[in-house]
Amino acid sequence: MSRATVRPGRPLRGEASLPGDKSITQRAILLGALAPGTTTIRGANPGADAASALGIVRALGSAVRRGRAGELVVRGGMFREPERLLDARNSGTSLRLTTGLLAAQPFLSILTGDASLRRRPVDRVLLPLRLLGADISARAGDRLAPVVVRGRPLRGADIDTGVPSAQVKSAILVAAIQAEGTTVVREPAETRDHTERMLPLFGVPVRRDGLAISVPGGAPLHGAEIDVPGDASAAAFLAAAAAIVPGSDLLLRGVGVNPTRRAFFDLLVRAGADVSMHDEREAGHEPVADVRVRHRELRPIEIGAEEIPGLIDELPLVAILSALARGVSTVRGARELRVKESDRISAVTDALRAIGGTIEEREDGWSIEGTGRLRGGSVETRGDHRIAMAFLVAGLRATEGVTVDDASPAAVSDPEFLTRLRRLVR
Ligand code: S3P
Repeated sequence: MSRATVRPGRPLRGEASLPGDKSITQRAILLGALAPGTTTIRGANPGADAASALGIVRALGSAVRRGRAGELVVRGGMFREPERLLDARNSGTSLRLTTGLLAAQPFLSILTGDASLRRRPVDRVLLPLRLLGADISARAGDRLAPVVVRGRPLRGADIDTGVPSAQVKSAILVAAIQAEGTTVVREPAETRDHTERMLPLFGVPVRRDGLAISVPGGAPLHGAEIDVPGDASAAAFLAAAAAIVPGSDLLLRGVGVNPTRRAFFDLLVRAGADVSMHDEREAGHEPVADVRVRHRELRPIEIGAEEIPGLIDELPLVAILSALARGVSTVRGARELRVKESDRISAVTDALRAIGGTIEEREDGWSIEGTGRLRGGSVETRGDHRIAMAFLVAGLRATEGVTVDDASPAAVSDPEFLTRLRRLVR
């Protein structure tokens, strides 16, 4: 455990760069390990979740090394039965995608994770993967990890994911590309589309029609060159910091602004912050921009179910913005938050109360009565990186500052988070 405190400091000015996108990095590692040949990943996320994905592919026989410029070089197409458990640690993306990846590999694998991950549902991937013919089972009546995968030949199918989850969609896609015949995956609402964008780079054509995605099985895979943009969710923490601290004017360089990930920036605008996008460009297969954020007084915000998938990782931050806006802000339709790295509805409720916020917990979200100020105090992060980072940001506008019981979980997605934040306000 490493306690940390953030107190009000100077306005955030100048420029900041960001770690590479965590979701894209994990996909590139896992697909790079599956595809025969060499995959080069530039700008990979340096966090613990990406390290979990690397540990898994190494245990499966892939060779991974650092290139001269710090890029990751993965030699793929060499999977063999792992001798030990595959440990995704805190990473839901690694656990769910690897389950799909291994469903078609001709050997036995057992996947697990840390205490948090072992409490999160896996039936959401097991059940659709079974429609492709997969032989997978899990603890607690197929609901929780460890997961046992007995790889076997799969056949394409038409599948509704049932939940709006990019992890579920992607687990199905990475199994389907190894099946016989075409698979169509339908999701109830659009979620991040990094897998669909990346598959063609590895040789798999992807067709999209509204919320339906189809991929052929058995297309020959080959290695790819992947440029990872700056992580939009990591950018959101700094953007929120600039939005709440008077006098701030911050430029975030090279942020991934994929339409399925940029909703938080649009939300900041709706709340009254001054946000502008500059030099919008395509970096490889993903849109990127420099994002400038300037402080303004914030207004309350209402968020409904249809907006949740695009904001899913940013909702703890939305709670901080809401407490600092004058008036009532609500989040609805966000039940998914209860099965993240922690139960984020309960974690946000307890933590916000602990620093003087007024919040009413709902089954599927919350209602916050913002007063434009926070007192500060000590909060429990429940080992959840996004709770830790959101409340450290809140410290910048809390009269007495905010102390988190453990800032180390930030390393899951952004090991330099606290250093970068402190440098900006010093
Ligand atoms: C992720 C998808 C989201 C997100 C998670 C990363 C991904 O989860 O919360 O941090 O890499 O696909 P769900 O798709 O399950 O909502």
